[in-house]
Amino acid sequence: MHTVLITGGAGFIGQNLVHAWRDARPSDRLVVIDAMTYAANLRSLEPLIAERSIAFVRGDINDAALIRALFDEHRFTRVAHLAAESHVDRSIDDPEAFLQTNVLGTFTLLKSALDHWREAALLDRSRFLHVSTDEVYGSLGLDDPAFTEASPYRPNSPYAASKASSDHLVRSFVATYGMPALITNCSNNYGPYQHPEKLIPLMIIHALEGKPLPIYGDGSNVRDWLHVSAHCEALINVIERGRVGETYNIGGGNERNNRDVVGLICDTIDRAFVADSGLSARFPACPAASGKACRSLISFVTDRPGHDHRYAIDARKLESELGSRSHVDFSDGIGRTVHWYLDHEPWWRDITSGAYEAWIDRNYGARSVIQAKNLRA
Ligand code: NAD
Ligand code: DAU
Repeated sequence: MHTVLITGGAGFIGQNLVHAWRDARPSDRLVVIDAMTYAANLRSLEPLIAERSIAFVRGDINDAALIRALFDEHRFTRVAHLAAESHVDRSIDDPEAFLQTNVLGTFTLLKSALDHWREAALLDRSRFLHVSTDEVYGSLGLDDPAFTEASPYRPNSPYAASKASSDHLVRSFVATYGMPALITNCSNNYGPYQHPEKLIPLMIIHALEGKPLPIYGDGSNVRDWLHVSAHCEALINVIERGRVGETYNIGGGNERNNRDVVGLICDTIDRAFVADSGLSARFPACPAASGKACRSLISFVTDRPGHDHRYAIDARKLESELGSRSHVDFSDGIGRTVHWYLDHEPWWRDITSGAYEAWIDRNYGARSVIQAKNLRA
């Protein structure tokens, strides 16, 4: 039995991890810390907090005194560190918060955990899992082999550079102080509770609202899509069974370019409207409500600066050492995700009705439309 600190537990992957952890290891005690930035949402955790099956602390990982007090109170022997600024476009718009949280916040957390585990003689039975990204490895050409754990670090965005810095800090704590830490570098997640700023939910919600679907550049950029449920299963496996000091890559085995991802989302929504006549009344601005194709909303806009062309993960180390091989078929995963957003309209309306609008204006208002196109299947 462990007491687990999950940082960033009110974010997209964090919320999914809390639920997955409770299912996988029901006797562990979970404490979530989250600063409740724009990206956080407590809706799915509220019942667990109310029935006291998890504890929630609103707080900043940069607050060393708070973090130490939490370690002294709960004597955590597991830390799953997910708190971060996570959106690449925001890191281009305003990088400072990324350095503060992703680099300095990670340092504060590492130091507090190390100090506590040393003083309480808990180093041997404790584990610190640092959740990082494939973006630290930079960009691949279409024919390059996928990233392995030995790929060189070549971050291209301020976000990726901040995550790379945090990975280096974790590694240095392992080598220098014997910190019992492990690092995971995963590919693009998708699934329930993802903030609508990210590609997949943004496209689903824009299509339902009849708004343009803004694909950056020519849409040929490739990502390796990992369903968040498979990611969370792998994270628990790594923290419990992985080797201290090691890095494990986690991928989805679903490489797709952005044109294909958006096309698949459009077709999935079109079919959902045919199957459920009630959707047309709920989303009258969606082209599918009047029998048109959602692909008619696709619009190619100015590219993201420094846009990495391709990410792909070689997950053989995870599979061979830990037997982790959870695979979610991409069409099936997108189908379930589209239906999740259809079924959780109040959840995303709460987000899109607020400050989110200001971000959309800032990020997309300045981009010129290169081409609006009805992308064919
Ligand atoms: P997210 O943006 O949805 O959630 C991040 C959470 O961290 C939010 O709830 C936010 O309030 C919290 N947070 C931010 N700053 C904080 C601070 N100073 N103190 C405490 N909490 C703070 O991100 P996500 O998509 O859930 O990603 C989780 C982690 O996984 C991040 O470290 C990210 O870099 C990594 N990751 C994400 C993906 C992906 O596709 N989403 C892929 C690879 C790696
Ligand atoms: O690879 C892992 C990373 O995946 C994580 O570390 C990041 O936290 C996460 O945000 C994600 O980064 P990406 O930049 O790949 O994700 P995003 O959803 O922002 O974009 C996915 C692709 O879609 C990317 O090629 C950019 C493109 N895109 C994105 C948006 C928001 C568009 O074409 N149009 C858009 O409006």
